[in-house]
Formats: sequence, structure tokens, C-alpha cells
Amino acid sequence: MRHAYLPVVVVGGGVAGLATALAMAPAPVRLLCRAHDGCGSASALAQGGIAAALDPQDSAAAHAADTLAAGANHNDAAMVQWLAAEAPAAIAWLQAQGVVFDSDAQGRLQLGREGGHGAARIVHAGGDASGAVLVQALRAMAQAAMHVQWRGGVDVDGLLLRGGRVVGVRTRDERGRHEQVEAAAVVLATGGIGASYARTSNPPGADGAGLALGLAAGAAPRDLEFVQFHPTALDVPGHCLPLITEALRGAGARLHDADGNALMAGVHPLGDLAPRDVVSRRVAAEQAAGGRVWLDATAVDGDWGKRFPTVLAACLAHGFDPRRQALPVTPAAHFHMGGLATDADGRTSVPGLYAVGEVACNGVHGANRLASNSLLEGVLCGRRLGRLLADASVSASGNGPLRVIERGESLPSDQLAALRELLWRSAGPVREAGALRDAWRACAALAELGWQARLAKALLRAMRLRRRSLGAHWRQDRGCPR
Ligand code: SIN
Repeated sequence: MRHAYLPVVVVGGGVAGLATALAMAPAPVRLLCRAHDGCGSASALAQGGIAAALDPQDSAAAHAADTLAAGANHNDAAMVQWLAAEAPAAIAWLQAQGVVFDSDAQGRLQLGREGGHGAARIVHAGGDASGAVLVQALRAMAQAAMHVQWRGGVDVDGLLLRGGRVVGVRTRDERGRHEQVEAAAVVLATGGIGASYARTSNPPGADGAGLALGLAAGAAPRDLEFVQFHPTALDVPGHCLPLITEALRGAGARLHDADGNALMAGVHPLGDLAPRDVVSRRVAAEQAAGGRVWLDATAVDGDWGKRFPTVLAACLAHGFDPRRQALPVTPAAHFHMGGLATDADGRTSVPGLYAVGEVACNGVHGANRLASNSLLEGVLCGRRLGRLLADASVSASGNGPLRVIERGESLPSDQLAALRELLWRSAGPVREAGALRDAWRACAALAELGWQARLAKALLRAMRLRRRSLGAHWRQDRGCPR
């Protein structure tokens, strides 16, 4: 029986954490996040939207089939069927939370098209600001909810264990002060690992800290080798790069090389809307040959301020006007299909520890996530987990002395920058045994110095063990199935 006075602690203020917290009402929740206002999650940067088969010509079965095809059939098929079938209900729930999706003059939801989808089924909000609109609405609900106690500006850097069960967290505030918070259960909703790479579309906080913590506590990982690279981040100097949404290619933008030749011609039947891994590898190949790749979106019509305000603002801030000139683009680490292994309800292998959203791996995305299925997963799995935890059957008790499992020290900043470069070179869109081995050895040598090196070592180990290409894991030294 859950002790009435102990809250569930949810770590992370993105869509998955917010959906979990909201679904727990009226059971008490402490929502902890690094940013003061809950900003800073990758959810808030998501541009495309949420996939849902809403068109009468479309079906959940077709959405599921596209999800499986993108995932190279490495997916958990039952999870995929559930996700696709529940997607329309997720849209309805979001509308009930105050999310206003873009609609046409008749009030029908506008449906966009993205790579790997056989139909137009992407529901979006604020044009390309879908993630920001969702997070804003859910955050407002959570901050107003009586059962949610919100605390920003804290890093969860340890898990409390008693008798093999997670019974709380250790927090560290910006002044370095630690505090122990006991909990009926702990939910990691900490997002992905994109910021572990030198080039990413993710925010700096998507650094794998939650994954590292779960692994330190002994939670089993799954599919760590599958990292998705988005083919079109804006190719400007820096670590966290602006995303140039795939929806632009859905609206007619085209990739070309420096000589103006169509980049995807003859590469894949879906051309510019081929699955992300295919497009990313083509862009990476062009770069490896010394070229640069451009996205020409000048033929995309309509009001950019309404349809693509996020892309427009980011490009203008870097001196590019996408309405008038082609944009330099590069692949960037975008989404981790792997993570802490969970069942369909979000249970990890450690009692009392749950994971949801990108830090978790329930198998729904397989070896490569289909576009606009991530916010969907966050909403649906968060709500499912929240309802489970609201149930009084969650036990907080554990026997024995309290232990603190720490994530550990961070690497010094120069070594962290070097590690990101190493991962980019060895564990990017194209991989090869020798480079993976050397990178693993380099990480092993740094493992005592910082948790990021231990995490990278775990990622590289999984990449070395999967010797054949599958989905986003491309081994150029081995057989390539497609
Ligand atoms: C995009 O807008 O291109 C990204 C959407 C996604 O990652 O699903």
C-alpha cells in the first residue's frame, strides 16, 4: 500500500513528465526539473507535431504499419498497435487541456506530412511550434493542479535505495546543496542523449543524465545502439543546432548539393521524404566527400510567419532567409530509441523506478522512430503510467539501510567537448568496428573521471555488439540489409 503522505517524484518537465504528473490526480506528485520554469526540454523544441490517423482515408493500421517499417520491424508490435490506435484519443485529451491545434477555415484539423508516413497525419500547433505549444499548455495545467508540487532549478543526481528498491531521490540545487526526498516511487522522464554528441538538435539538458542515473542504479538498458540523426539541422557553428523541420520537405522543400543536383535522386523511392536514417546518411556521405548540402525551401508557399515561425526566426537569427535562399544543413543527433528497458506501463527492472518518454525504451520505436511519434509516446505512455501510479497498489516500503546511488562527477568541460566529438565521429550516422573499438577504449580510460564517459562506454558497447546494420544503426563495415 502506498503511504498516503509520500508523493511520487517525477523527474523532468517535458511532455512525458507532465502527462504522468497530470494523470496522477489526485495522488500527490513532486515534479522536479533542472530549469526554473520547466523550460529546456527537448519536447518544447519539437517542431513537426503529433502523428494520428484522423483522415477518413487513413487508419490506425496504416499508422502502425508505417511505424513498424520505419523501426525496421524491430519494434514491439503490440505497443505499436496500441500507440496508433490511441493516437486520436491523445489529440482529444490535449485539446481538453487547452492545446489549440492548427485548423482550416472549416475548423478541420490541418494534417501535415513527414518522412516515412504514407499519409498526411501530422497534427500541429502554432505552425512548427507544436512542442512549445504543448509544453506551455501542460505546464500551465500542472502548475495550477493542487496535487502537483513543482520544483525547478534542481538536478536529481542520486537515487535512494532501500533493500533493492528505489525509495526516493537526492537533489542538488544551483548552490550545490544536497537534499534527500523520499518517494512512493520515482519516475525518470529526463529525455534523451542528443547533447552527448558534438552536433545535436536537442537542448543542452538532453545529456543522458537520467539514463546514466538509472544505469548506475542497476536498471537494465535496451537498444542503446539506436540513435536517430535528423538530416536537416541548420549547419552553423555550435553544439545545439536549430532544427529545420521535416515538415518543410513535406511542403515541397528539396535537398541539393553544392552544384544544385537533387541530393536524394535515385537513392530511395520516397526521395526527399525517405526515412530519416537514409537521408541522414546521404547528407553525411556528401559531407565526408568534402561537399555541403543545402535545403531549398524557397518554393514553399503560404505565410512563413504562421506555418514555420520557429524555423524562420532561427534562420533569420543566423543570417539566412529561408524564403529567399537555400539553407546549409547537416545531420544532428536527434532522438534515442534506446534507453532504460521498461514494460508497457513504464516499470524498469528496479522496483520503485519507472521511466517514460525518451529516457525509456518500451520498444515502440524499434530501430528508428517514425516522425512525430515521440510527443505522441510521451502523452500516451505518461498518462498510462500516471494512472498506474495513482493506484494505491504502488508500495513505497523497502527494508534495510538507506543507500544513495550517485550519478557521480561530471567530466571537466574540455574533456566533455572532446567526448562529444569522439561520439560524433565514431558513433554517428555511419559506424565501423575499428572506430567503435577505439572510442570505447578512450571512454573506458576516462570512466573514472566522469559519468558521461561511463554512459558513452555503455552506448558504444551496444553499438559494437550489434554487428549488422539495422534501422538507424548503420555499420558500413558489415552487411547492409537495405
Ligand atoms: C521534425 O519536425 O522534423 C522533427 C519531428 C520529429 O522528430 O518527430
